[in-house]
Amino acid sequence: MCGIVGYIGTKQAYPILIKGLKRLEYRGYDSAGVALISNNRHLNVYKAKGKVSDLESFAAEKDISGTVGIAHTRWATHGEPSQANAHPHYSSSENLALIHNGIIENYAILKEKLQSKGYVFKSSTDTEVLVQLIDYIMVTNKLDLLSAVQLALQEVIGAYAIAVLEKNNPDQIIAARKSSSLVVGIGEEELFLASDATPIVEYTDKVVYLDDEEIAIIRRGEELKVVNFKNVEINPEIKEVKLNLGQLEKRGFSHFMLKEIFEQPDCIYDCMRGRINVDADNVVLSAVIDYKEKLLGARRFIIVACGTSWHAALIGKHLIESFCRIPVEVEYASEFRYRDPVIDEQDVVIAISQSGETTDTLAAIELARSRGAFIYGICNSVGSSIPRATHTGSYIHVGPEIGVASTKAFTGQVTVLAMLALTLAKEKQSLPREEFLEIVKELSHIPEKMKKVLELNHRIAGLSQIFTYAHNFIYLGRGYSYPVALEGALKLKEISYIHAEGYPAAEMKHGPIALIDAEMPVVVIATHNGLYKKVLSNIQEIKARQGRVIALVTEGDDVISSIADYCIELPATLECLDPLITTVPLQMLAYHIAVCKGKDVDQPRNLAKSVTVE
Ligand code: G6P
Repeated sequence: MCGIVGYIGTKQAYPILIKGLKRLEYRGYDSAGVALISNNRHLNVYKAKGKVSDLESFAAEKDISGTVGIAHTRWATHGEPSQANAHPHYSSSENLALIHNGIIENYAILKEKLQSKGYVFKSSTDTEVLVQLIDYIMVTNKLDLLSAVQLALQEVIGAYAIAVLEKNNPDQIIAARKSSSLVVGIGEEELFLASDATPIVEYTDKVVYLDDEEIAIIRRGEELKVVNFKNVEINPEIKEVKLNLGQLEKRGFSHFMLKEIFEQPDCIYDCMRGRINVDADNVVLSAVIDYKEKLLGARRFIIVACGTSWHAALIGKHLIESFCRIPVEVEYASEFRYRDPVIDEQDVVIAISQSGETTDTLAAIELARSRGAFIYGICNSVGSSIPRATHTGSYIHVGPEIGVASTKAFTGQVTVLAMLALTLAKEKQSLPREEFLEIVKELSHIPEKMKKVLELNHRIAGLSQIFTYAHNFIYLGRGYSYPVALEGALKLKEISYIHAEGYPAAEMKHGPIALIDAEMPVVVIATHNGLYKKVLSNIQEIKARQGRVIALVTEGDDVISSIADYCIELPATLECLDPLITTVPLQMLAYHIAVCKGKDVDQPRNLAKSVTVE
């Protein structure tokens, strides 16, 4: 959720920190702040409500000197977005400044204890409690910062990535993590710190991903040192990150979301590269081959995920059940983790996550692991927490997704799920060879077909203008298209703030039909597949009640085009791969409606891309 950046080295810290915050702004953007130890050894903290650009304006005339600093962009949990609640937080002595991503669950008890010792609080945050606690432990026990952090974190219940700066010790940053990601970048005579590698990659490709309950001692002119809470030294494993800077820029698009929609053909190609070999009529997901006994021996699969990833999971259920004849259940990770699910070592849990950091999905994995289940991860963010918590898995390889509303990650997840189902089906011989080959071949054509869908961008932009009046939308689909309807509705809600519901088309008559009148736009996914005729009847029912139908149809469909108000014609594909085609125009529709309504597409209100709180 919140974003953390830190720097110590020979350069001015402020510009590096601000640039880093901008890279991480997708994580939270209700307030931002920076703490710097200035050239004349003051610990300066500057904070502003709003975006990083508001912080820049606020700090414009201030002393921004110094070669060490920490910075934060916030997504509010405790306390409204305000300057007072923005991070960094000072300790009362103003000797320490701290930034935090996560939640301190026992903050109320700790706060009472500190108040009884005379500590005064200026904000409503849980974070201020932590910095005061560290200060209290330092002062009362006459400890150095590292020892105080180690003791304080043993008193804390919750999730955190933190970084602390000490006025009296301007040559170090102490950072620690538990359940929230933290990466240290290793440069020449400089060290960086960030919630993920995106702020670091333009300076160095060498990083260390901290593990839970590890503390990084980041000192000027010294090598990175990592210890645990008991001060046992841990050998940091230096990894190479392969992020290309262009992936982090808009490259001429007006928004990251639009750029990411347009990247999808290349992303899907990258996702399949080395995994699909059409000439050899083969699909290989290496993790599936490595663990085929475990996977094929499973009693059932349970897919856990949140948000858009949960919609991909619903498509995964269709794919795996129909290709492999293995029963699949799909669960919201947030519900699964707090039930007492019947699960054991005969089950395989597939966890899907773009960010690899979603707290609920991580907790669901931990629960399933503790009951003996085998865990397969499907993630985008390389080196994130979820891939490290699973037994094995597959990356979707679609590159960093910056727009808060997920687009290319969804189609990447569906592509990996299709490859997973195909690899298993081949091993299990559960699909007739002809059918298997047809699907593999068609999957390899999806990037080309997506490109054709993207050519509809202008037409969809025009169509969007008609619907900016709407306060509600209904999205309908059946079979493989039902999760697409859910995803289309979610995209619209997320970025345009128009209320939208996705329904299985046949369920319309059990309630939502009461909402239909001449004002109601109904988006129907009505491509040519097994349930086409049924969906056609649903469209007739909507038109009989004057609803305004926007239908996604297969090119050349002149039946629905004579009934629906607007038709978006899409290239034909196999029914099982249809979501990879039909999702794209719905992403564009949501995008253009939001743009027409003047909304902040890449940073919609109240949302965050990486949900590291419950
Ligand atoms: C947030 C994001 C969504 C995302 C969901 C799950 O709500 O805004 O776009 O689908 O989290 O995130 P994950 O990273 O686990 O896929």
